Amino acid sequence: MEFDAVLRRRRMIRAYDPSRAVSEPAVDAVLAAAVRAPSAGFTQGTSFLVLSAPEDRAAYWAATANRDSGWLRGMRTAPLLILVWTSREAYLDRYAEPDKGWTDRDLAHWPAPFWYVDAGMASMAALLTAVDQDLGACFFGVTTAQIDAVRAVFGVPDDQLSVGVISLGYPAPTERRSGSPTRRARRPTGQLVHHGRW
Ligand SMILES: Cc1cc2nc3c(=O)[nH]c(=O)nc-3n(C[C@H](O)[C@H](O)[C@H](O)COP(=O)(O)O)c2cc1C
Repeated sequence: MEFDAVLRRRRMIRAYDPSRAVSEPAVDAVLAAAVRAPSAGFTQGTSFLVLSAPEDRAAYWAATANRDSGWLRGMRTAPLLILVWTSREAYLDRYAEPDKGWTDRDLAHWPAPFWYVDAGMASMAALLTAVDQDLGACFFGVTTAQIDAVRAVFGVPDDQLSVGVISLGYPAPTERRSGSPTRRARRPTGQLVHHGRW
């Protein structure tokens, strides 16, 4: 698909076609793009937990969903969930190496939490590749109160910080534009982009 079309077509998909399985090569392409994303100091500190077995996905939803909603009914149809994790420790370790030199591991050095920046970059690469594979995807967060439950269910180490989840699958035939863009206008480029001076 043309890159321009990938960018234009990408939007969050919140209902999936349960009759269409996602092929392994398509999933592999999405994951390959995610791990190929740039990372600060080439730390490569973003990790992915892929849930494809129905019982694993059910366990995820059991650990996180506390009330029924249209959103949940749609999202539960996703045949695949990719849980995105990052490790602040991995970045502190990497930047304590001689070429970076932040041996004191002081958080004040960091102009932004690059461990989350990198996870966002990897997630975006995954979302765009999903479109390129004719798939739909949605990035969503795990509520703070539920992160430990998810860690416990899937044996995720304590140093791993939850960034969010990417649901993946073919869009349901009835799927419609949803979420905030149906209620809020896109801000004009001129409000967000400044040239020369703010
Ligand atoms: C960091 C982040 C967190 C998000 N969390 C959620 C979420 O919890 N639930 C959800 O349905 N969508 C979530 N979204 C999707 C946004 O609502 C969506 O990207 C935005 O409304 C623009 O719509 P579009 O991506 O379809 O163009 C999230 C997106 C980002 C980047």
